[in-house]
Amino acid sequence: MRSLASLFAIVLLATSVSAFVSIPLTRFQRLGAYLKGLPDADRARASFLKNRASTGATTVPATNLVYVQYTTSVGISSPPTYYNLVVDTGSSNTFCGTGITIPTGETVNVTYGLGYISGIEYLDQVTLAPNLVIINQSIGDALSYADFEGVDGIIGVGPVILTQGTLSPDTNATILTVTNNAVSQGLIYDQVLGIYFAPANNSSDTNGEITYGSIDSSLYEGELTYTPVTKTFPSAYYWGINITSATYGNKIVFLKSTAGIVDTGTTQVLLADDFFDVYRSSIPGATLDKSTGLITIPPSSIPYMQPLNFTIGDTIFSMDVAAQLIPTDQNEAWGGVAGKQYGVVANLGTLSGQGLDFIIGQKFMERYYVVFDADNNCVGFAFMNNTFSKYME
Ligand SMILES: *[C@@H]1O[C@H](CO)[C@@H](O)[C@H](O)[C@H]1NC(C)=O
Ligand SMILES: *[C@@H]1O[C@H](CO)[C@@H](O)[C@H](O)[C@H]1NC(C)=O
Ligand SMILES: *[C@@H]1O[C@H](CO)[C@@H](O)[C@H](O)[C@H]1NC(C)=O
Ligand SMILES: *[C@@H]1O[C@H](CO)[C@@H](O)[C@H](O)[C@H]1NC(C)=O
Ligand SMILES: *[C@@H]1O[C@H](CO)[C@@H](O)[C@H](O)[C@H]1NC(C)=O
Ligand SMILES: *[C@@H]1O[C@H](CO)[C@@H](O)[C@H](O)[C@H]1NC(C)=O
Ligand SMILES: *[C@@H]1O[C@H](CO)[C@@H](O)[C@H](O)[C@H]1NC(C)=O
Ligand SMILES: *[C@@H]1O[C@H](CO)[C@@H](O)[C@H](O)[C@H]1NC(C)=O
Repeated sequence: MRSLASLFAIVLLATSVSAFVSIPLTRFQRLGAYLKGLPDADRARASFLKNRASTGATTVPATNLVYVQYTTSVGISSPPTYYNLVVDTGSSNTFCGTGITIPTGETVNVTYGLGYISGIEYLDQVTLAPNLVIINQSIGDALSYADFEGVDGIIGVGPVILTQGTLSPDTNATILTVTNNAVSQGLIYDQVLGIYFAPANNSSDTNGEITYGSIDSSLYEGELTYTPVTKTFPSAYYWGINITSATYGNKIVFLKSTAGIVDTGTTQVLLADDFFDVYRSSIPGATLDKSTGLITIPPSSIPYMQPLNFTIGDTIFSMDVAAQLIPTDQNEAWGGVAGKQYGVVANLGTLSGQGLDFIIGQKFMERYYVVFDADNNCVGFAFMNNTFSKYME
């Protein structure tokens, strides 16, 4: 098991466009044969053209894997071989460890906040669901990678601009994402992604749902609060938004409109170092543990902890105390030691004022339904049944 420090997304402000993802684990399969499936792909296309039926939206399950990432099963090639790919709204390339068919003549290299993946870019069929089969999807066949153990690849559902600069020799090209292709192939009508995550109660809990092409109103409560994608760079390259204030109890973490990103591929909730310091110093005895990079909270302070509130649009989205804490039976999975209480809020590693001052990651999204709407260039949030759940060990 990797140490948790490696789970932090690193903000690469030096490169104009970089991507985020935070990963641990152990398996990166290479199954299936190269150059298999070209005829299959053609047959699939013929079949697709004949049976162009679509519901316009499809919901697929997602698995909370070892508490720190969500994967979804994606079929590559035809007939499909299924792989567990990390669902990443903070990058936009699709990578898989194998099995792919039509070379494009391009190589691809994506640098993430943590690690990189590089390989050869291919075209093949991608099955997101039985009624959501994308043909001619450009996919990176990962030949080398760093920090992507334990999963088979990534499905990048961020903005298409994040793919620019990843190909070579065609360095200026962008790569149509699965969402782009699903729309252009008539499989979904709207470039909308609805994400339902939930706190996991074991290390492989298929408790998430991803809706491609729509939102699923049965998964949230009340109204969605939409906020526009920010115009502040570098957050604007991603699913970036402005949050207008953040408080911890009666302490002000920030009180001016501040840009950051919403990212399924980052596990924690990260705040610019100065913002984080307000939070940490408001919890008596809390320290940033050097070996894990996690905040540690003395048990004596827990009864006095306060909600961490973010104002988005006109609504307060609160992380209650349980939402801020890591259940102690997960300590080992997070690289921690038994008997300590760790938290999910951590520091970004840079001071505020740089245009990317927070990352709203998976742990926030386990509490709120999130909608990524590329047609209207906005992100929506809603309360759900897990928002104030008291899950805590
Ligand atoms: C891909 O990029 C990473 C980070 O910039 C670098 O370390 C790696 O060598 C590159 N791989 C290839 C094959 O270019
Ligand atoms: C497949 O996609 C590539 C770009 O990704 C495009 O150039 C090509 O025309 C497409 N082929 C078909 C058959 O749609
Ligand atoms: C990429 O685009 C820029 C301007 O948009 C241009 O100056 C440059 O020559 C292009 N590079 C390639 C390799 O096409
Ligand atoms: C696991 O979580 C689900 C909801 O996410 C809940 O219904 C179930 O009771 C939990 N199981 C255990 C053993 O805690
Ligand atoms: C994990 O929890 C889910 C939901 O509670 C359950 O369906 C699944 O079987 C559990 N898996 C293991 C390995 O315990
Ligand atoms: C929350 O809603 C989801 C989706 O409808 C459902 O699967 C889950 O069991 C619910 N959990 C609780 C604790 O009600
Ligand atoms: C978003 O936040 C940035 C600071 O990160 C600020 O410069 C910008 O004006 C804000 N945008 C809006 C629309 O409030
Ligand atoms: C934070 O959110 C909680 C839960 O909605 C609420 O009770 C509390 O008043 C909020 N605190 C502030 C300072 O807005």
